[in-house]
Amino acid sequence: MPDCLIGQLYLAHRRRYSCDMSSDCRTPRLILAPLKGFTDAVFRNTFAEHFDGFDAALAPFITTVAADRLTEKHVQDLLPHHNTRMPIEPQVLANNPDDFVFLARRLFEMGYAEVNWNLGCPFRPVTKKRRGSGLLPFPEQVDEFLDKTLRALPGWLSIKMRLGRNRSDEIFKLLPILDRYPLKAITIHPRTARQMYGGAPDLDAFQACLDQSRHRIIYNGDIVDRRGFLALEDRFPRVAAWMIGRGALSNPFLPAVIKNGEDSVSGRVEKFKSFYEDLFTRYQEKLCGPGHLLDRMKGFWKYFAGAFTNGQTLGKQINHTFKLPHYLETVERFFREGPDWRD
Ligand SMILES: Cc1cc2nc3c(=O)[nH]c(=O)nc-3n(C[C@H](O)[C@H](O)[C@H](O)COP(=O)(O)O)c2cc1C
Repeated sequence: MPDCLIGQLYLAHRRRYSCDMSSDCRTPRLILAPLKGFTDAVFRNTFAEHFDGFDAALAPFITTVAADRLTEKHVQDLLPHHNTRMPIEPQVLANNPDDFVFLARRLFEMGYAEVNWNLGCPFRPVTKKRRGSGLLPFPEQVDEFLDKTLRALPGWLSIKMRLGRNRSDEIFKLLPILDRYPLKAITIHPRTARQMYGGAPDLDAFQACLDQSRHRIIYNGDIVDRRGFLALEDRFPRVAAWMIGRGALSNPFLPAVIKNGEDSVSGRVEKFKSFYEDLFTRYQEKLCGPGHLLDRMKGFWKYFAGAFTNGQTLGKQINHTFKLPHYLETVERFFREGPDWRD
């Protein structure tokens, strides 16, 4: 199918949804966070078939490549016909404006209205090349990047960022710069890169960001239950949308629980099992060889196990499986023994 047609179909699909990635709605707007290695198209589609609650997803980042190396494979996961169940926004990791514009143009041609720039990735191989959160201590470079890219982009740009690379006040030099540009939204994960995913999100710093930015702000970080979400919603009424990552992997009912305002969902183990089985089957079809499938599933169970009262033991058992038949036996036995969902 020609890309322009795919693009039109995708836009028609997007119009069916009442809000875009960051607009205000009466019910909280929930976005699935990008988790590279987890929330790809297979996961997003399967999740949306089995669970309610997410309005959209930000896809895990793709990196820029030289123009002559950009192939269909590079954007495979983002092809609109692979993403029919949940509206998505692509994310790009870059520090070179020309490369970014080249890739973003390709994404806009595919029908996306908005592309996200990753300023949050905390991993050393990325940050030492001044990409992801590695750019946060360099406001002039961020300014120059935005100046060059926004002149050349035929669509919206949004940003996902942390408070800083080394210090949580780095963001306060950036926000006045970001205020000068027409961004669609800024997602803030209120941790530094040094913190990785540990320690508590700095909510006071997040409040200061809300006070010091004119942009729509999306909150992201450690939303794991409805009570915690309500406290955040109460404290930050100006937040335009809420992004949830690990909390939705550990409890896939969470987005619906937040949306519907009900904590009790019946038949959770059965519903989860049905989701898990579809996920497994689809990765079995997609991934090459039992080793890759086993690795992928072991990754998921690090989060899934947290949903069950006896999940810690299961998590350890799965972590110690090195052959697919042994893994299958372990999971099959776990479900047969009638596990309890953790409340
Ligand atoms: C395994 C993993 C992969 C991630 N991949 C991405 C990514 O591709 N792009 C991005 O902006 N953030 C990425 N993140 C960060 C998450 O999107 C999110 O900011 C972080 O997990 C905090 O939100 P949470 O507490 O709701 O999970 C990743 C995090 C983890 C744990």
